[in-house]
Amino acid sequence: MKGRLSIRSVPVAVMLACILAIMLLLAGFAPGAAAQPAKAPPGGTDDLRAVYATSADIADGKRVAESSCARCHGANGISNTAGVPHLAGQRAAYLHLQLRAYRQTARVQSAMDGIVKFLSDDALVKVAAYYASLEPARPVAAKPAPKTAPAKSDPASAGKAAAASCGGCHGENGVSKMPGTPSLVALDPKYFIASMNAYKSGQRKHDVMKSMAAGLSDADLGNVALYYALQKPARAQTPSPGDQAAGKKAAASCGACHGDLGISGNPVTPSVAGQDAQYLAAMLRAYKDGTRKDESMKSPVAALDERAMRDIAAFYAAQQPQAVNVRRPLTLTEWADRCDRCHGVNGNSTDPLLPALAAQREDWLAKVLHDYRKGARKSSAMAAMSALMSEGDVKELASHYARQTGRAITYVILPGK
Ligand code: HEC
Ligand code: HEC
Ligand code: HEC
Ligand code: HEC
Repeated sequence: MKGRLSIRSVPVAVMLACILAIMLLLAGFAPGAAAQPAKAPPGGTDDLRAVYATSADIADGKRVAESSCARCHGANGISNTAGVPHLAGQRAAYLHLQLRAYRQTARVQSAMDGIVKFLSDDALVKVAAYYASLEPARPVAAKPAPKTAPAKSDPASAGKAAAASCGGCHGENGVSKMPGTPSLVALDPKYFIASMNAYKSGQRKHDVMKSMAAGLSDADLGNVALYYALQKPARAQTPSPGDQAAGKKAAASCGACHGDLGISGNPVTPSVAGQDAQYLAAMLRAYKDGTRKDESMKSPVAALDERAMRDIAAFYAAQQPQAVNVRRPLTLTEWADRCDRCHGVNGNSTDPLLPALAAQREDWLAKVLHDYRKGARKSSAMAAMSALMSEGDVKELASHYARQTGRAITYVILPGK
């Protein structure tokens, strides 16, 4: 007790300089054990109290754990219950932080609310220190290596596979060589998906495309749209009879929506630059005679005659299409690299305030990532991260971290200067 008081009375910076974090690979001092200085705490020394716990504190914490926590979090902090996280080997300051969050109802969870209310802050520090001192759960066994090659997880590759039947008409990589059939490159995925759904519902009439659209699940469709959006744009390799200069003039009023050179800035308005001319002309006719219905396009085409349509089509077909602004989805490795920047190598956090992810329950990791996405659990760092994740990313990341070997960490306070 006396030791701790004297530590607390020195200035934070000096104190921190005296702290070395020593990673104890509890599985037996394996190579790679490293000593490193602890980082400055964000919220003052109080946040790190659990890190400085003595072995007597830990023994007290064990009693609290056995009487109040073990029935849910399992003996030795290894949970056997879905939706209840392992606590064994979790970082001490992080545990204390979360316990305080439950108590202050910053984090609302009925299972935890009742329990933390009756415990003093001192008890929370000790129980946090106790759980942090335990050996982490064993990781979930590694997955058998996939027998078939391409990772289904990568949406663009999955899209390519699902688009195998489209290339015959729309051209390899979506650049059309068939007059009357549109190129699929340089279309925003939002517009692409809306188009396919319009064929599916019959709002856009085309028998072949109706059956093509019916053959794709929503997930496939998203992947196919993404795949085409990521292909290198090129002009359709089809003839475009018509007077481009006359077309440019006739298209003066179209630029407000489609862009002066046919590059739309709005995801629901298609870009028309480099599109197959015969298809463009056919669509203008379809809007005019009402076979393709759209409120925005009704009045622009009303005054166009057959010749103007052909010229406009020739003008747009001659323009250079541009890549759509879509983000290539990250692979699991790229995701994990980002997570590890905060959560430590393979999810073994070396910052006592940041949770370890390694060997945590898979169902818990997935649940938490969903909670951050929905805002049910609040953290600015994690909301920003999880907002960009797909369902598939969440699954893969949860599975990845549940399979990493967990390493407990003990911070050893060295005697001060
Ligand atoms: C009635 C069952 C129950 C008991 C008893 C219980 N917990 Fe929990 N605990 C849960 C559940 C369920 C969650 C997940 C809550 C959530 O989704 O936020 C949880 C979450 C936690 C978390 C958050 C972990 C993280 O990584 O975010 C900590 C820390 C925790 N419990 C510590 C304790 C301690 C310490 C005790 C004993 C003093 C205790 N719990 C008693 C059910 C319980
Ligand atoms: C048999 C030839 C054929 C096949 C196969 C085919 N399409 Fe089409 N597709 C067309 C034609 C023709 C049109 C123009 C239809 C119209 O008049 O609306 C079209 C239109 C489209 C459009 C609308 C483009 C725009 O600019 O609005 C999309 C999107 C599309 N196809 C996607 C696909 C996908 C994805 C596949 C594969 C799953 C596919 N197509 C397979 C012939 C085909
Ligand atoms: C008020 C905005 C607006 C104006 C002005 C406008 N468009 Fe459109 N255009 C749209 C929207 C939105 C769509 C997509 C409608 C749909 O889903 O059928 C579209 C669709 C099209 C398509 C179909 C493209 C494809 O890939 O299927 C063509 C071709 C087209 N416009 C040409 C023109 C021309 C030529 C003009 C000028 C004479 C024009 N548009 C003026 C908004 C506009
Ligand atoms: C900028 C730093 C940062 C990055 C990058 C980051 N996290 Fe976090 N993460 C945090 C913080 C801070 C918390 C604690 C938030 C809280 O109090 O709820 C956290 C909490 C978590 C938790 C909750 C752990 C538990 O047991 O309750 C999970 C799961 C998680 N992060 C997963 C991830 C994944 C997966 C990634 C990568 C896609 C990631 N994090 C990237 C900072 C980060």
